[in-house]
This record gives sequence, structure tokens and C-alpha cells, in this order.
Amino acid sequence: MTTNKKHLYNFSGGVGALPEKVISDAQQAIKEIPDSNISALVVNHRSQLCRDILDETEQNIRTLLNVPDNYSILFLQGGASLQFTMIPMNLWVDKKCPVDYIVSGYWSKKAIEEAFKDGENVKTIWNGKAQNFTKLPTPNEYKIDDNAAYIHYCSNETVEGLQFTAPLETGEVTLVCDMSSDFLTRPVDVSKFGLIYVHAQKNIGAAGVTVVIIRNDLLDNIPDNVPTILDYRPHVKMKSIYNTPPIFAIYVVLLMTRWLLNDMGGLLNVAALSKNKAEAIYDVIDNSNGFYRGHAQKENRSLINVVFNLSSPELEKEFIEEAKNVGIIGLEGHRSLGGIRASFYTSMPLEGALYLKKFMLDFQKKNN
Ligand SMILES: Cc1ncc(COP(=O)(O)O)c(C=O)c1O
Repeated sequence: MTTNKKHLYNFSGGVGALPEKVISDAQQAIKEIPDSNISALVVNHRSQLCRDILDETEQNIRTLLNVPDNYSILFLQGGASLQFTMIPMNLWVDKKCPVDYIVSGYWSKKAIEEAFKDGENVKTIWNGKAQNFTKLPTPNEYKIDDNAAYIHYCSNETVEGLQFTAPLETGEVTLVCDMSSDFLTRPVDVSKFGLIYVHAQKNIGAAGVTVVIIRNDLLDNIPDNVPTILDYRPHVKMKSIYNTPPIFAIYVVLLMTRWLLNDMGGLLNVAALSKNKAEAIYDVIDNSNGFYRGHAQKENRSLINVVFNLSSPELEKEFIEEAKNVGIIGLEGHRSLGGIRASFYTSMPLEGALYLKKFMLDFQKKNN
């Protein structure tokens, strides 16, 4: 691949970019964690250093999101996909009660498929398939069962580029959310949720660790036949050291949370930046006279994943190739949908969005 070395912006949707500072601090930590005499790759999980890394990472997430004291924060493995399985296993206690799912795209569909493996009483309370997953429901378009063990939704559908603007209002019913692609991109009222889960590799670090934020009262009813490693309780009890945690991956999350706190100045700033980045691209799409065609309907557009098409797959291929030649990578749409996807995770600077905007304008001029 030829790239313009002066600029290299990674818009990949699966695994996000990381700030240069975080990468160089991680490199340094591979040699030696500052003031420790030890590489981050060989930290023993029973050491005080490991405890300190976990504690500071947890504290930073608590500070960034203002997490109430009655929630535990866990660092687990198995990706967001394992949570699709662990959630019904742990929280669906009485199988006579249903579990409710909103199916708004590729990832929430994956989540519900796993719930069906745990029981039959799974309700799809809204499904966006008929509209080809171009929109999200308004509250009057779905009805939550008062007896539901929980309701599950995905706050940002990474593949289709659809994002809920606020947590669902669920009354007494426990709200469970896959926040993998928009975690720490804006302030969120954690007290509205029973459980939030998120893998690290998009907004808060590198692949290998999954963060779960769980309200402690939900631990009380977990069935005793859940296999130990899949049961949230031992992880809470042992403060994420029930077994060997992925310490280096957690260390990168620590660096990212420090960066979000100290360099970005917190989530209000991150949210404002997210808006500016995405709007720069939506502006090009909306003023392109149909040259670029957005996938999501306007009200539900994601500020994190901007998904669009050009007039033909051939032109899309050309767009992706030309972008690579000027140092813009990762624009391929998800394999299930095709088209173009530009992802603006926390680490993407505004200059990256403006650079892509200019490329899009130039490409349109040349190919119109
Ligand atoms: C919203 C969302 N949920 C779940 C997943 C699956 O995550 P993992 O690969 O960590 O299992 C993804 C993957 O990109 C995602 O975007």
C-alpha cells in the first residue's frame, strides 16, 4: 500500500486508532512501567502493582462517568460477544419472565441470538429489519414487558451507524446496554442502567479486555449453576483477579483513561469533539446532491460511525483505494453491509475528520 507518510488517519470500525501518546507510553511500559523496574508484559497478577493498575483504571472510569458507589466495575475477557452469553446466564433467573431485546442492527441481533440459547421466552420488542436497519425506534414504537428480567439494547450500532441519543426509559425494568462502540465518547447517567458492557478496542484501549459495569443488587439472584468463570460474582469478589487478567490490555485502558481525563479534559470535551468530527462528514454527505448517500435516517445518525454509499460498488472501491493513497485507511464498510464506514472513535482528532472531508469533496469534484 502506498501511503502519504505525512498523514495517516485510521478510520477503521473494528479496532480504533490510539493516540500517539498512549502508544508511546505503552511502548515504554513494555520496557518498564515507570517507577517499577518491571515490564507491563510480566506483571504478576497477585502483585501489588497489578492491584494498583486495576484500581487506578477503575477509579478513572468512575471519575470520567461519575459511576455511583453501588456499581462494580469488572475487567473481563471474551470480548463483548461473551457478554451476549453471560448476561442471560446471570440475569435471567426466572425463565417464566421474558427478556426483552431491541434489534436495531447487526450487533443487537447477535446478542439476541445468544439469549435464545438460554431459553425460549425471548421477546423482540422492536426490530429494524423491515427498514433495513436505517432507523431506531422512538419510545412509543415498543412496549417493555413489566415482568421482563431485563431489556437489552445497543447504544451505538457500529455496522449501520445508528446511535441512541439517551438511555432508554425502562421504569423498574433492568436496563442492559452494549456500549462497545460509544463508551466514554459522552457523559452517560450510569444510574439508569443495570449493566453496561464494552470491549476496549474501539474507544478505550486495545483488544483483550472487556469492561462490565454492574449494579450490585443484580448479583444477589445469579443462579448457582452458572459456571464459575462466567458468573459475575467471583469476579466482583476478587476485584477482577479471580483468574489471571489481561494485564497489558488493562494497562492500555489505564493509559487511555489518563489521556481522556488529563489531555482531553473529560467527557464533555470528548462529546463536543465527536459532534464536530461527525458533522464535518455528514455535512459533505448532505450537500453532495446524492453523490454520497447516508445509510441512517438523519435523526438516528451515529456520531461515531458514519456509514454511506456511493453510486456503485466500483466507485466505492475507487474511493477506498484513492483514500489509501493519501494516507486515509480503514474506510471499508462492514463485510455484512459493504459501502463506506468512517469511524470516529475517541482518538481520532478533528484534523482527521477535516482531512477526510477535503478528500471527499475532491473525490466528488473529480467523479461527478
Ligand atoms: C457494538 C458491538 N458489540 C459487540 C461487538 C463484538 O465485540 P467482540 O469482537 O469484542 O466480541 C462489536 C464488534 O465490533 C460491536 O461493535
